[in-house]
Amino acid sequence: MAFTILLIALFPVLYYLLPYLADDKKLRRFPSPFPAAFSEFWLFYQARRGRRYLAVHAAHEKYGRFVRVQPKHVSVADSAAIPAIYGHGTGFTKSEYYDSFVSIARGLFNTRDRAEHTRKRKTVSHIFSTKSVLQFEPFIHHNLELLAKQWNKMSDRPDLPGGFHKLDCLHYFNYLAFDIISDLTFGAPFGMLESCKDEAAVKDPRTGKVTTAPAIEVLNRRGEVSGTLGCVPWVKKYAKYIPDKFFTQGIKAVENLAGIAIARVSERLDHGKGAGREDLLKKLMDGRDGDGNPLGRKETEAEALTMLIAGSDTTSNTLCSLMFWVLRTPGVLQTLQKELDAALSPHGEWEIPRYGAVKDLPYLRAVINETLRIHSTSSLGLPRLVPPEGATVCGEFFTGGTVLSVPAYTIHHSTEVWGENAEEFVPERWFDLTALQKRSFIPFSTGPRACVGQNLAEIEMTTIVATVFSGWEWKFAEGELQGLPGAELNTCEGFLRKPLGVEVGVKRRRA
Ligand code: HEM
Repeated sequence: MAFTILLIALFPVLYYLLPYLADDKKLRRFPSPFPAAFSEFWLFYQARRGRRYLAVHAAHEKYGRFVRVQPKHVSVADSAAIPAIYGHGTGFTKSEYYDSFVSIARGLFNTRDRAEHTRKRKTVSHIFSTKSVLQFEPFIHHNLELLAKQWNKMSDRPDLPGGFHKLDCLHYFNYLAFDIISDLTFGAPFGMLESCKDEAAVKDPRTGKVTTAPAIEVLNRRGEVSGTLGCVPWVKKYAKYIPDKFFTQGIKAVENLAGIAIARVSERLDHGKGAGREDLLKKLMDGRDGDGNPLGRKETEAEALTMLIAGSDTTSNTLCSLMFWVLRTPGVLQTLQKELDAALSPHGEWEIPRYGAVKDLPYLRAVINETLRIHSTSSLGLPRLVPPEGATVCGEFFTGGTVLSVPAYTIHHSTEVWGENAEEFVPERWFDLTALQKRSFIPFSTGPRACVGQNLAEIEMTTIVATVFSGWEWKFAEGELQGLPGAELNTCEGFLRKPLGVEVGVKRRRA
């Protein structure tokens, strides 16, 4: 009896200690915050708190460029590791982390098998060629017109000193990004810009019953819970039994989100709604792999869901943090507006700018790039599995099955790369970039798993930022934040680094 009790008491110690001592992946040589080398739950805990990137960043500041963040996972804060881990032909694949993001079926984002990913990517990538995404511009334009109507109405009802109207810009960037991606992918916008509410109509294709779901909220929950469970993937099976709303609501969110995509795809495929439109769904349906095969029904639903997830709050979170940094940094708003005014014929009547008129504006581009660097919407180290034969990265050999990642936030904030002003928002740095800085800028990742929607994201952000700052005046709602060195953007990390909101005042620039 005493022996059994002893054994039970010792079990956790042996469970975590023995593998550590056995060290089959030879990782004990790397420093690690306690107890990350013993248990996967250290990273899980950091992700649950929404501060994984910060904990890893702090660990790198303390221990240097190699940090063991899980028993089989080493984070490498060195730009030289980027091509070695993420580049073409390295043989690295996505790790088990991505299993927790699977709902309907594996989509482009969470497919781990290399051959399967290549097949899917061939089917989808033509949709995002520069030429193809230009066809999406009218959808962006149309939704910007709806946004302009709302902001103009607000401008007519000032409630802040100086004729400004108060709003949280995160909400409006979310409505805009979700309506654009829904318009593009599902044949119609969710209607958030019309209602100014986080509401997506979902029609049950069998019963015809229409319900609503808060798509933005659901997507947030889903990113947080999947990003946490991904750190210990076997927990996913039991997540709904964990007495923590974070998990129970998160699991429900995953189902709701899939429901939105399934119902919307069904409206097109089964009821012909929006048929004939040159949108993303049509292109998905027309896509063929290397053998000429189209995507199946489940795959089409999964890819439509992937686009909704990958193409919505990535853009809106980036835009919200851009607003913060533009207002926070003295001189930036004025320089940006000067450039926009010169390009957009200030004497004519203002209208929503065409992408062609603003795509080559250097300061606009620099502001977007500097936001992608300093905010790092994708901030965590994207985990990759070392191929069976092992790999040498930055002079260290790693055996097959080890997980490696390069922490994007840490690389984007490295003083070795960006200089002593790495923590400052300096758009001008983009006019004279070093080769090292170019190699170290990874907001869309790189290699075969880099963002397939980058061209679309660029068109969207360029047109939206040009519209926002040429059409309206902005200030922080609290006024006094402007220019204060200590003013921080409050964020929380799920899969993405998300601002919690930025309250601003808006005022139409031209009568
Ligand atoms: C500012 C906006 C965006 C940022 C910062 C961003 C960033 C990223 C990053 C870092 C990845 C790699 C993820 C990983 O390896 O786990 C990625 C992948 C992906 N992105 Fe984006 N993205 C943005 C916008 C978009 C848009 C607009 C779309 C499409 C509508 C899109 C679709 C995708 C897809 C499908 C993948 C998976 C690609 C694959 O694994 O082959 N993204 N994105």
